[in-house]
Amino acid sequence: MAPAERSAAIARVGAVYFDLYGTLVDLGPLDAACEAVVPGHGADFARAWRAEQIRLTWLRTIMVTWVDFERVTEAALRAIATRFDVDPSTASGLLGGAFDALPARPEAPAAIGSLRAAGIRVGVLSNGSRPMIGRALADTTLAGLFDDLLSVDQVRRFKPDPAVYAMAVRASGLEPAEIGFVTANDWDAVGAAAYGFRVAWLRSPGAPEPPSVGAPDPAVATWAGLSRFATDSSGM
Ligand code: LAC
Repeated sequence: MAPAERSAAIARVGAVYFDLYGTLVDLGPLDAACEAVVPGHGADFARAWRAEQIRLTWLRTIMVTWVDFERVTEAALRAIATRFDVDPSTASGLLGGAFDALPARPEAPAAIGSLRAAGIRVGVLSNGSRPMIGRALADTTLAGLFDDLLSVDQVRRFKPDPAVYAMAVRASGLEPAEIGFVTANDWDAVGAAAYGFRVAWLRSPGAPEPPSVGAPDPAVATWAGLSRFATDSSGM
């Protein structure tokens, strides 16, 4: 194969994997759910809960003290409840299933459908435990759309550890440069870009620049723009 043909072949995307929380499903409704626990402060509580949840995943990965995302999410909820002077068991009783009941992004099914129609393998690659991923997708417009549901349970590390992104390589049989990755989380976008995926970062309005951690800048994309994975071998 001539070098130009080889690089075109390497650039072809054969699979696209999606982050789950905040990407395929919308975290926005957590604000209203948290109002039940801290009336008038639901949005602050939800933001702090999510930040603590992610901080714990990083610490547990670096410290090699893995527990699954369900336990991390519960520990983060209890810690934030204490910070807001709420009884942790009360918060847990009211919000324990909140990550299972988030709505799918309305744009997602059509975007996924067009990738599938182009013959692209489509999967979820998430910090969620395997049962959590199942519960999050059940009863949404996303149920049944994916070839692979990849949970970090397999590798007992959280994103952005390279072992997590490597699951997609194993599942698809493709090289990192042949795999597209879609996420709204900036740290996940740079983690996947550092691993060598072709990243589409669904950057929210007003979001800061991606973290400067030695990774290539992820391409900013929109849901509608994801069709470029199917049509444009040089983009994203
Ligand atoms: C996930 C979190 C990071 O689904 O959004 O992996």
